[in-house]
This record gives sequence, C-alpha cells and structure tokens, in this order.
Amino acid sequence: MKLPRQFFKPLAIGAPAPYRELPVQLERMIHFVPPHLEKMRNKVPDIAKQVDVVLGNLEDAIPSDAKEAARRGFIEMAKATDFGSTGLWTRINCLNSPWVLDDIVEIVSEIGGKLDVIMLPKVEGAWDVHYLDQLLAQLEAKHAIGKPILIHAILETAEGVKNVEEIASASPRMHGMSLGPADLAASRAMKTTRVGGGHPDYKVLADADGDTPRAGYQQDLWHYTVGKMVDACAANGIKPFYGPFGDFSDLAACESQFRNAFLQGCVGAWSLHPTQIDIAKRVFSPDPGEVAFALKILEAMPDGAGAVMIDGKMQDDATWKQAKVIVDLARIVAAKDPEMGKAYGL
Ligand code: GLV
Ligand code: MG
Repeated sequence: MKLPRQFFKPLAIGAPAPYRELPVQLERMIHFVPPHLEKMRNKVPDIAKQVDVVLGNLEDAIPSDAKEAARRGFIEMAKATDFGSTGLWTRINCLNSPWVLDDIVEIVSEIGGKLDVIMLPKVEGAWDVHYLDQLLAQLEAKHAIGKPILIHAILETAEGVKNVEEIASASPRMHGMSLGPADLAASRAMKTTRVGGGHPDYKVLADADGDTPRAGYQQDLWHYTVGKMVDACAANGIKPFYGPFGDFSDLAACESQFRNAFLQGCVGAWSLHPTQIDIAKRVFSPDPGEVAFALKILEAMPDGAGAVMIDGKMQDDATWKQAKVIVDLARIVAAKDPEMGKAYGL
C-alpha cells in the first residue's frame, strides 16, 4: 500500500500531476462508435453534439481482422472532430490481447492531449490499473501531454467483482467503473445469454393460496453487483455506470434497467444504439418534479440543519444532503442542456 504522500505523485518524470478531484463532467451516456467503419465515423461530428461522451470501441464487437483499422479510424476521427465539451474516450483491447500495447502507445502518442478517458476491459484487480497507470505516465511524459488521461474500469469478471474496492482505490487516475453484464455473466457461469436486463425465470413467487394462481415477480439480476460497485465508487470519489443493454428492440426494458441503476447511484450508462441516447438523457437527468421538491428542501433549511415539514414529509440534515445531490446534478445538466435548465427553473 502506498503512503498517502506518494499516492498523488506523478509516476514518471515530466508526467502531469494526477487530479485530486475528478473534473466536473456530465456523462449520462457513453456512446459507442465502431471506428473501423467509415460510415459510422462520418456520423461522429453530429453525434458528438447529441451525447455527453463519444467512445471509440476497439475491443469486443470489433472483428479481429479489423482491430488495426479500428485503432487507425479512432485516431483519424479524434483528429478530425471538434468535440467541444463532449468527452472523448476509447475502449482499448484487454491487457492479455495482442493489440493492446499498440492501442495505448499509438493513441496516446497521436491524440493523447485530446483523450479524456481510457476504458479498460476485464479488470481483475488493482494490478491491471497499476500497469496502465505507469505506462500512461511514461507516455504522457514522452509526448508532453498536459493533463492526465483517466482510467475507467469495466467490472466484468468474478475476480474483478471480488476486488472491486481495491480497483476503485488503485490510482488517482481512476475515473469510474461500468458494469459489464455480458462478460460478467460468462465469468460467473450465470445461465443467461442476454446483455444486461432481467430474465423471466429470475423471480420470486407469491405464497401458495389454495388453487389461486400464484403471482411471480421478476427480480433484477444485477442488483447485487450494481450495489457493490456503487459503494466502492462512492467511497473512493469515483463514478459508477451501468454498462450495455443489448436488446435494442425493447426500449422500455432498457429504460427500466437504466433507471434502477440511476436510483441506486449510477451516473450514466452506455448507449450502443441511437435510440438509447434519449433514454439515457431522460433517465440520468433528474426529474423536474424531484428537483422542484429538492429545491424546496434546500430553501427551507438554508444552513442544512434542524428539522422542517414539507408537504407532510419530515426533512432533516440527511434529507438536505439527498436534496443537494439532486440539485447539484440538475445544475450540471442545466449548464449543458438549456431546455432542461428551463424545466428545472435554474
Ligand atoms: C461489456 O463489455 C459486457 O461484457 O457486458
Ligand atoms: Mg465485455
């Protein structure tokens, strides 16, 4: 374990100092782009105006014979596009793959100054983060990159879930984590072929009552892992995200999965299809009614202490903090999205 004094020192001479606080950034959806496809790359300038984060995907879903083309395509689209306040991320190949070293070295050398976050798949423990952390510091120093590139881990192996707290606290470069339900299901030998979402057979039955048909209630397969991830992230001041929802035809189920994650503490999710962009925007922006009520709480308790009744509900120091979470998020949304700002009255 490093001494606290050493934790925030750059890992290479000439590398930028690690952030002590994460930059404030709205990241309701991380929009995945397959950069080996020219048709998809051409849409990026438009997409960048609609989403909070554009991610060039180099890992799973990119065919093996297109890995180099995806890396080159990502570098090309990063150079050609003005992303404004929209984040630019990439998901590199996993650390035991033949492509990852070139992914990191080429991308950082060519567009490292524009890249905000590297998403690292299949993270098993803090050692994976330490490897990338050190390599990034060396490359940042070599290419005189002025701000640290952050690391976002995908939580998608049983070992990673077991080590989630060590991963969250592995480096000041940690930005956050996403649940990877497809790989995680495989790693745990869960019996589902779905990418996220529920399963009709994962349910509890109401008690038997004579011959009355028994109701069955579907449960959330991901509740435990999301909860564990949210606690590890919140305890370390980094951000938790729900990951992919693979059934593009079921918008309602996607919205419900995203909303469960939002209510549990996640700040965003992946959008793999354009229809999921609006869902994420809707879900991960706080509800205007909730914001109005939260504002009432803050106004009624200007110093955040004591107890008051609002609309018949008891408020105290703790609900003041809950209200502040919602209002702080609403202000960040309003700064990016004037229409939502109007709906919030901010
Ligand atoms: C995402 O990468 C997943 O495996 O679900
Ligand atoms: Mg995966």
